[in-house]
Amino acid sequence: MLMSTSISLHTGRPESFKTPLLACFLGTGESLPANLKDLDKLLGGALKRTLTRRDFRGARDETLHLVGAGSGPGRIVLVGIGSPKYRTAGLRRAATLTGRMAQKSGVGSLTIVANGMSAEEVEQVAVGVQFGSWEYADLKTPPPENERRDPLTACDLLVDDAKVMAAAVKAGVAIGEGYALARRLGNMPGNVCTPDTFVETAKTIGTAHKMRVTVLGRKEMERQGMGAFLAVAQGTPQDPKLITLEHLKGPKSQKPIVLVGKGLCFDSGGISIKPADRMEFMKFDMCGAAAVLGAMEAIGRLGLRINVIGAIGSTTNMLSGTAVKPGDVVTAASGKTIEVINTDAEGRLVLADVLHYIKQFSPSAVVDAATLTGACVVALGSVASGALGNDDALVQEVVTAARAASEPAWQLPLFDEYQELIRSSFADIKNIGGRGAGAITAAAFLKEFVDYPWVHLDVAGTAYTEADLPTMPVGSTGTPVGTFVEFVRRRAG
Ligand code: BES
Ligand code: MN
Ligand code: ZN
Repeated sequence: MLMSTSISLHTGRPESFKTPLLACFLGTGESLPANLKDLDKLLGGALKRTLTRRDFRGARDETLHLVGAGSGPGRIVLVGIGSPKYRTAGLRRAATLTGRMAQKSGVGSLTIVANGMSAEEVEQVAVGVQFGSWEYADLKTPPPENERRDPLTACDLLVDDAKVMAAAVKAGVAIGEGYALARRLGNMPGNVCTPDTFVETAKTIGTAHKMRVTVLGRKEMERQGMGAFLAVAQGTPQDPKLITLEHLKGPKSQKPIVLVGKGLCFDSGGISIKPADRMEFMKFDMCGAAAVLGAMEAIGRLGLRINVIGAIGSTTNMLSGTAVKPGDVVTAASGKTIEVINTDAEGRLVLADVLHYIKQFSPSAVVDAATLTGACVVALGSVASGALGNDDALVQEVVTAARAASEPAWQLPLFDEYQELIRSSFADIKNIGGRGAGAITAAAFLKEFVDYPWVHLDVAGTAYTEADLPTMPVGSTGTPVGTFVEFVRRRAG
């Protein structure tokens, strides 16, 4: 296991703080902040000169390195925040870049000038540093001792009042740990992360934060008539799992928020098999479930006084002699019959029974996250998740939380007319629509199984990056851990 970065608060002066790397974040067009004047003096006016010459302009993702003066910081890095309009998000991003850079360069520890920041900004900086320095190296042999670089074990934040900012850092660390957990699960290959892994992880979280964990296996699901979920699971020898975690820290009478995640540990497509090219990427098809666990970990650490339940449907979509076939008609736990036209539209089958199962909790709101459709990636790319639901105010509430968490989401319509596209000639509904509106018809299918205020987040394009980005390596992004936590936290008040 990788050591995580521990974050602490200090009230020291930037120019006299002994640190291998001091990071200063500056917005577009910002002049030298007052608290860096003494550092500038120590550096013989280098900071002022670089700003006057416009060598550094504070643009998003811009960085400029300076060598220290012999005393105080060993080196200094200026990192751009970009437009002051999005200062909090810009700070989060700058901190992420800095954390990643510090981790790669092996400085071991890092100091960030956070004087003058609000508590919300300090929290996002704490999230960013952990997010940026996080790596997934569980499956790699470590390099020989003399070639190893020091991991980023410590990050000091220089603030004006350490007491005031302590809660902000604590919250940031909680969210950062939630992301780390979700990203680790998301990167784990299908032979390492199985439905049992989700059970073990849920139990660990449950024990740590006093949440009740309930697990249904194939037998229990058969008893509950979960023919949709089981149709997907009938091609794999692994035992499918429906897992719930109950964080009941709010008033007894308060209806819970339920967070639901699609947990396909591998999606081969089944009999409607996917092309071989990049099929390995389909290990990521459990990122919704991973985000639910990450969010529950963060919510537990935050000790939010609210009732929240996490629910995960986990299995593997495989081919075999027993696998579900195109044309098969199955009966969901709700009683609805489903014609399985395409076995690769499996996520909605799993979620149908999970969404029905959670009715027993009388949810006040349900948010599900699923890597559900390639069509959503076509519509929104990897920039925004798709958000659809049966309650526009709730959709906007989730979209607002997503923006605050730097995980943009955008609403797609779910007009009644779309339900027509999934009518079947042989059963109540079929599991795919026509050629058009694939992300919407998938949501329309889910809508058949909900009777509570509900939002669906299609994270197919946002939960995983196939490109190495400035802020993160190839792999799981943790989205929508931040959205889940922010949504719940805002409701907790
Ligand atoms: N897990 C996939 C969605 C997916 C596909 C995410 C490609 C990212 C990239 C899902 O189970 C799936 O296969 N969906 C099908 C639905 C289709 C058969 C209607 C898809 O999007 O191709
Ligand atoms: Mn599929
Ligand atoms: Zn899938």
